[in-house]
Amino acid sequence: MIELAPSILAADFAHLADQVEQAAAGGGSVLHIDIMDGHFVPNLTIGPPVVKSLRQATRLPLDCHLMIENPDEFIAEFAEAGADWISVHQEACRHLNRTLNLIKQHNCLAGVVINPATPVETLGEVLDIVDYVLVMSVNPGFGGQKFIPETLHKIRKLAKIRAERGYGYRIEVDGGVGMDTVADVVRAGAEILVAGNAVFGKGDAKANAEALLAAARSASLQKV
Ligand code: DX5
Ligand code: ZN
Repeated sequence: MIELAPSILAADFAHLADQVEQAAAGGGSVLHIDIMDGHFVPNLTIGPPVVKSLRQATRLPLDCHLMIENPDEFIAEFAEAGADWISVHQEACRHLNRTLNLIKQHNCLAGVVINPATPVETLGEVLDIVDYVLVMSVNPGFGGQKFIPETLHKIRKLAKIRAERGYGYRIEVDGGVGMDTVADVVRAGAEILVAGNAVFGKGDAKANAEALLAAARSASLQKV
């Protein structure tokens, strides 16, 4: 099932609840929250207090994408703040199996993320335990970057491995997803589509979300 995960990074933070409501009205069904620490990525964003406020403001599942070093130190806090899904970068985890199990122990869905330069093969030993895999289609740190088409083959590979081995993870894609790229990511096999600027950048978030989802669903019907 195709789902749209609006990324609040591109929203107007002074009117966050309103913006989220509009994106949800347009069909957004998962709220993507980018957590950056200024170390793992060259940018700073938000922490557990904002997640806690969003928990009160929306019924959408909260998908916390941790772009931070030492994620183990913060997983409990994000879970307590109301995160439903927590993903960590393969590149940030020295003990990836332990970190993913820690997320599960806090009753959240556990996701693993790979940067554009990180091969799918580095996930071989955790694909059986993750709930979702997030393929970065830009280098993380900023919204509004250009989609990197060379990442598409990793989405295809993850879909193939899942079918061959009978795994249950879902495939999420993040970065530069918009009207011009959404068909390609869906045809490659992505199911959870993160979009920041394409939803909140300009115009009406509800209409933008509707248009993006319609394009995604029609591409998924064309899939063979
Ligand atoms: C980038 C973030 C993305 C970002 C995507 O590091 O992980 O979630 O918000 O923004 P767009 O959709 O504008 O590329
Ligand atoms: Zn993200």
